[in-house]
Amino acid sequence: MSLLESVDFGTPQSRSEMAVTLQVDGVQVTVPSGTSVLRASIAAGSNVPKLCATDSLEAFGSCRLCLVEIDGRKGYPASCTTAVEAGMKVRTQSDALARIRRGVMELYISDHPLDCLTCSANGDCELQDMAGAVGLREVRYGYDGANHLAAKKELSNPYFSFDPAKCIVCSRCVRACEEIQGTYALTIDARGFASVVTAGQAGRFMDSECVSCGACVQACPTAALIENSVIDLGQPEHVHVTTCAYCGVGCSFRAEMRGTQVIRMVPHKDGRANHGHSCVKGRFAWGYATHKDRIRSPMIRKKITDPWQEVSWQEAIVYTAGEFRRIQGRYGRDSIGGITSSRCTNEETYLVQKLVRAAFGNNNVDTCARVCHSPTGYGLKATLGESAGTQDFDSIQATDVMMIIGANPTDGHPVFASAMKRRLREGAKLIVVDPRVIDMVNGPHVQADYHLQLRPGTNVAVINSLAHVVAAEGLLREDFIAQRCDPKAYETWKKFILQPHNSPEAMDPITGVPAATVRAAARLYATGGNAAIYYGLGVTEHSQGSTMVMGIANLAMATGNIGRSGVGVNPLRGQNNVQGSCDMGSFPHELPGYRHIADAKTRSLFEFDWKVTLVSEPGLRIPNMFDAALDGSFKGLYVQGEDIAQSDPNTQHVTQALTSLECLVVQDLFLNETAKFAHVFLPGSSFLEKDGTFTNAERRVSRVRKVMPPLAGMADWEITVELSKALGYPMHYDSPAQVMDEIARLTPTFAGVSFEAIDRLGSIQWPCNSSAPEGTPVMHVDQFVRGKGRFVVTEFIATDEKVSPRYPLILTTGRILSQYNVGAQTRRTANLAWHDEDRLEIHPHDAQERGIGDGDWVGIASRAGETVLRARLSERMQPGVVYTTFHFPGSGANVITTENSDWATNCPEYKVTAVQVTLVSHPSEWQERFRRFSEQQIRLAEARKPVHT
Ligand code: SF4
Ligand code: SF4
Ligand code: SF4
Ligand code: FES
Repeated sequence: MSLLESVDFGTPQSRSEMAVTLQVDGVQVTVPSGTSVLRASIAAGSNVPKLCATDSLEAFGSCRLCLVEIDGRKGYPASCTTAVEAGMKVRTQSDALARIRRGVMELYISDHPLDCLTCSANGDCELQDMAGAVGLREVRYGYDGANHLAAKKELSNPYFSFDPAKCIVCSRCVRACEEIQGTYALTIDARGFASVVTAGQAGRFMDSECVSCGACVQACPTAALIENSVIDLGQPEHVHVTTCAYCGVGCSFRAEMRGTQVIRMVPHKDGRANHGHSCVKGRFAWGYATHKDRIRSPMIRKKITDPWQEVSWQEAIVYTAGEFRRIQGRYGRDSIGGITSSRCTNEETYLVQKLVRAAFGNNNVDTCARVCHSPTGYGLKATLGESAGTQDFDSIQATDVMMIIGANPTDGHPVFASAMKRRLREGAKLIVVDPRVIDMVNGPHVQADYHLQLRPGTNVAVINSLAHVVAAEGLLREDFIAQRCDPKAYETWKKFILQPHNSPEAMDPITGVPAATVRAAARLYATGGNAAIYYGLGVTEHSQGSTMVMGIANLAMATGNIGRSGVGVNPLRGQNNVQGSCDMGSFPHELPGYRHIADAKTRSLFEFDWKVTLVSEPGLRIPNMFDAALDGSFKGLYVQGEDIAQSDPNTQHVTQALTSLECLVVQDLFLNETAKFAHVFLPGSSFLEKDGTFTNAERRVSRVRKVMPPLAGMADWEITVELSKALGYPMHYDSPAQVMDEIARLTPTFAGVSFEAIDRLGSIQWPCNSSAPEGTPVMHVDQFVRGKGRFVVTEFIATDEKVSPRYPLILTTGRILSQYNVGAQTRRTANLAWHDEDRLEIHPHDAQERGIGDGDWVGIASRAGETVLRARLSERMQPGVVYTTFHFPGSGANVITTENSDWATNCPEYKVTAVQVTLVSHPSEWQERFRRFSEQQIRLAEARKPVHT
């Protein structure tokens, strides 16, 4: 693939449906009305020099390089700021234009270092290109006048540098920060010659509001803003397009390479999820892939107190298969199971569930979505008929009212948050339902119209009261409901929702949200035009997670906000492939495509293809596996790419269960917390070493492409295949593409998906089949997937987790922009510069009552356990609620979380834990034990005996 990104047309594409025809340099060209003359000229094949314009930003018209001549117009208009008109005749080249452009360039170059040959951007610099394009050969003014050549570099950001000497003050960076990222961290200070780009008040990126998204670096036409990796390693030589392995936005990236070394990751302009934007994680935090902590050889040991022994792949596979068969021989067929990963590809995940069902001979397979979005699967299937979000991300461009419930997009889904902020700047309205004052409530240049700051655990009460207002105030879309929804279920629901106990006034004492705010928000959602709901784990990780998802679907159906662009119900998926891991049949009761294992017809389809008899009863969910391990009936577990010892609730319960296993097999990049309890370690591959696909939150299946060989010599999918073979159930694939062909063959919603089709179309949103050969951006358009939309009664039932004199505060958890999930990847990058410890956020009032100051060590005790963190006083919290992140294993956030879970799916209630917080001076007992155990395990790993060949 060429290093060249697709053509830069200078200004953004016009969305107008009216066409205009004009002539450029004698060539006739037809473009949408509103297109700039610059863009039309480039489309016509003319070469117009430009510096301040790029097609990701609105035209600015400052450099005067793109001047053209237009018949009937005086002078030389800037083509980037001039709109096309029908019949226009444009000339882009003439002696006069050449003279003017050379003059402009001469001025730029006279105040620019002449170090092109040694500059890090040599060969990738628009200033250099333009000097060549306008034929500049000499600078008449000399280089001795006043200049900026000695200006000091700004090096505070760990990933990129700013060299003011190379800045041409084109303002592309400032505009990128405003228009693309929506952060407004940069300004141009002073005027004229003294103009300089400044980050924040002090001029340091790290002290400003900058979130290190990299948009300014990408927009910069010179080496003024440049990635440190390019300075250190030089210019890249070749490119592979791949998909970010962090969050569920699924940004497309160009991995720019030198041999097998990544030079930089640049967001791909043609990526349909991100349109050339990124966040700090995908853009810069990829160094973990080659971190020294990566384990590069398989290892085994008999007991977890033994040192590890490096072994060959063959030995590791044979040993694992032998152990699993021994365990099944002794404890029965159901005594082993597997856990798939939302960080692995669709193909890898599919193979693990196939291994469990076909080679283990049971359905004991589950996935980490159990602990995040399993209620989404249940709730959306029950109401709409499909376990997935209804829209594509671009749908936000047609949204008039967005409601964000229990999600923190600026931290969890930053690139989509930028798209949301753009739409808000265009005038859309915003309702936020969240216990915290997240950035979208009151952040830089964003202000929610309504913030429903509810008490944790009262989501269902709030959604019911919103729906009550809609029903009671005559705002129901009866026409939509009559046409699209099941009438009987609707009548039952309507009767329920109109009951006085669902009114905002009745719910106010429970939710803490003033009734007037609920009423106003409900009216806005129901009558403000296209209204879309985006939600996250603040909805699902509750004892009523599934109820809440159904409540959201009810509200969307009741107001007709489903089935077209701009509306819908959209789970913001946490990890990169949560959607995919669920689609691929990772749940114990479902085969790929969400078909129940008890359904004989579906089962026989797979039995015929896989040539095996499948068990018809669902297998164990993750929490059931832990319970069975403690009972002594579950003894072997294969965990691919998950760190259940850190990510699952009630850590002490989990680790006791893991200790009870006779063979725990962990396949991962690092010796993670779960691997410390393992008997077999199989080194896995990072996304840079994989071929396959990820499916993002909008059901978009995108390619992950291998840019370097697996560091440990074997791809993850090959490991599963080899294990299956050793267990006596050989699988035959030459490549992940063949695995996808099998998925497509057996899964109607994936029937049209193949690597070839994705390569051709860029990416595909499922369902993709003969009736939607290029995929489905918006679902439920003419009718719901289940036929008639089904309203479900969603009675609010308070969680058992209640505050008491002993535990008077509610702890809720969330994530932060710079870290990701259990932190295994991001903790091994320079992202630590932003967040190097988890802290407990506490309202100053609660802190004062307890004598706690900012930065003090505090003990957090729940009925499950106790841990110690440093406090951060914050008014983002309401009094009575405390908050923490969970990115560091030693923090022990999950030591405190309880085993309460969603009634339908067992998704843990991470978001509501009753706690007491006290001032302390030393770590908790658990933390001391954790530290000793961890140090012992690291010693055992470091003392590992090398592989004998
Ligand atoms: S990195 Fe992103 S947030 Fe920071 S200044 Fe640049 S564009 Fe703005
Ligand atoms: S830093 Fe780069 S993008 Fe920003 S004004 Fe200077 S040259 Fe333009
Ligand atoms: S972490 Fe998410 S938003 Fe950031 S680059 Fe990756 S996919 Fe995009
Ligand atoms: S590119 Fe048009 S004025 Fe700079």
